[in-house]
Amino acid sequence: MTTKPSASSSLSAATPDDVAALCHLEVSYYPHDGYPAPLFYQAIHQWPDLLQVIKVKSAHQTSLAGYCLGAPGQNPQQLWLMSLLVDQSYRGMGLGKQLLQHWLNRVEQLGFSQLWLSVSPANTAAVKLYEQQGFVVHTTETDYLGAGEDRYLMLRNVKSKH
Ligand SMILES: CC(C)(COP(=O)(O)OP(=O)(O)OC[C@H]1O[C@@H](n2cnc3c(N)ncnc32)[C@H](O)[C@@H]1OP(=O)(O)O)[C@@H](O)C(=O)NCCC(=O)NCCS
Repeated sequence: MTTKPSASSSLSAATPDDVAALCHLEVSYYPHDGYPAPLFYQAIHQWPDLLQVIKVKSAHQTSLAGYCLGAPGQNPQQLWLMSLLVDQSYRGMGLGKQLLQHWLNRVEQLGFSQLWLSVSPANTAAVKLYEQQGFVVHTTETDYLGAGEDRYLMLRNVKSKH
């Protein structure tokens, strides 16, 4: 059961003004191998709809609380969820679910019908969230992200609305 945030949240495509906060969030969770600023800038230019952020507004400030990044796959129907990350201090409040649902709506409007992601089998919070949103475990890949880094490959097939 999630706790509702006391402050209000908003969802939008990332802009260059968000990159410093994105890097800060990334380093807070992945101190040694987080995505660097050039990747975020390039994503904003190259895939403007695929990098979505969630911000939380309090009385004094607006903070970037999480982001979701996608990138196209090998065929035109495929899209990969590259990253979903919510700031530690905002977890368990429903923001990850809100962000992922928003991102899924956007990418489905863009016509992608096969959504893929990789996630550690040990990451129960993320696996549960993805399953809730219609992803199923397709395969388990050994050493997928290097030695000892096994991953579930999860797939969400989007039904055509036509
Ligand atoms: C995974 C992550 C994005 C979830 O974000 P969040 O804002 O805390 O999630 P929410 O509060 O929106 O919860 C959504 C669902 O996630 C699952 N979940 C979240 N936290 C959980 C926990 N501690 N244990 C089990 N399930 C959990 C639940 O299914 C929850 O739905 P419910 O409240 O209806 O049960 C967040 O934990 C995170 O950023 N983790 C680090 C980065 C990461 O692992 N990203 C995924 C890599 S592929």
